[in-house]
Amino acid sequence: MAHRIAVIAGDGIGTEVMPEGIRALEAAAKRFNLDLAFTTFEFGSCDYYLEHGKMLPDDWFEQLKDFDALFYGAVGWPDKVPDHISLWGSLLQFRRQFDQYINLRPCKLMPGIKSPLAGREPGDIDFYVVRENTEGEYSSVGGKMFAGTEREIVLQETVMSRIGVDRVLKYAFDLAQTRPRKKLTSATKSNGISITMPYWDERVAEMAKQYPDIAVDKFHIDILTANFVLHPDWFDVVVGSNLFGDILSDLGPACTGTIGIAPSANINPEGKFPSLFEPVHGSAPDIAGKGVANPIGQIWSGAMMLEHLGYKEASEAMVNAIEAILSEGNSQVLTRDIGGQGNTRSLGQAIAERIGG
Ligand code: NAD
Ligand code: IPM
Ligand code: MN
Repeated sequence: MAHRIAVIAGDGIGTEVMPEGIRALEAAAKRFNLDLAFTTFEFGSCDYYLEHGKMLPDDWFEQLKDFDALFYGAVGWPDKVPDHISLWGSLLQFRRQFDQYINLRPCKLMPGIKSPLAGREPGDIDFYVVRENTEGEYSSVGGKMFAGTEREIVLQETVMSRIGVDRVLKYAFDLAQTRPRKKLTSATKSNGISITMPYWDERVAEMAKQYPDIAVDKFHIDILTANFVLHPDWFDVVVGSNLFGDILSDLGPACTGTIGIAPSANINPEGKFPSLFEPVHGSAPDIAGKGVANPIGQIWSGAMMLEHLGYKEASEAMVNAIEAILSEGNSQVLTRDIGGQGNTRSLGQAIAERIGG
């Protein structure tokens, strides 16, 4: 049976790394006899907005809801459309309306890549950020009052529901249980944010009772960011609210050498709605159009998608191919962000060929 995958490349380098993501998936499909049917959509990009006055058509939910997965590139082009309009009008709607409440973001120092942290080797940095993905600081509760006057006030509430907090914590504890170190770190800020964050801590402590074999610790987000840099080897599964998880999932990959390789899975674990797979990075206007973006974040996101669809072996073959090409360190193949002189295509092609076996 064919797996139907909706493809939305988006903006900037999203449109450059997406073909490499598909090339790699097609190589995996060929080798492992998978039937992947890709359908490309133009919406969810700033060019679509300029033409239609909105990021998505009114019936986007109907159009996408029966796909088995969504494969996204990156969205946003601030010179064309303000970011809060393009992002709230697309990606953040997918996450919320499809109840993709888990944002799973691996951070792994790969062989052949130099960490900016002195003396760190592959094996020293290998953890997951589990980010709450539908509520928290990213809420639509708030507003502007007395607009345009000296008394102008803007307000945006943080929302934490018990269901929302518990379900992301449960996912993170369950993930920690599958890992050899069985360790979970909670990102908090309950010393300064005195209502929502103590609540988060309370729910962590409650959930921990059900997982006596998991070693649990917590750090306030300020020192936690410092510890990512100073002691990345301390971490195994790190769980955080929407905003904290966002920040940690750029910092983590930066510690592994480049944000260009970092993948993510926006998951609706119940499978009621499609999950969405995309690199952590954005549309990178500073390098867009040059063909030099690193495609690994997109390709690795494709591997996470295959795992989600039940194809563990094919998914592992994709990650192994990424590792193999990085280990070989051929500078003609690798992109600039990891010290090479190659481009998006040379790296994408090399990985796809390796996936082919
Ligand atoms: P960004 O991730 O686009 O870029 C940050 C820096 O990392 C840039 O210097 C860029 O060149 C570099 N970079 C990113 N991806 C790379 C890759 N694959 N290879 C090599 N270098 C890479 O973040 P930004 O500049 O803050 O945002 C640009 C736009 O993207 C904004 O509109 C923003 O809102 C949007 N954005 C979208 C997503 C998403 O779609 N999930 C994520 C982050 C940012
Ligand atoms: C990410 C991005 C998005 C987020 C932005 C573009 C809205 O930074 O996927 O990490 O904050 O979630
Ligand atoms: Mn981010």
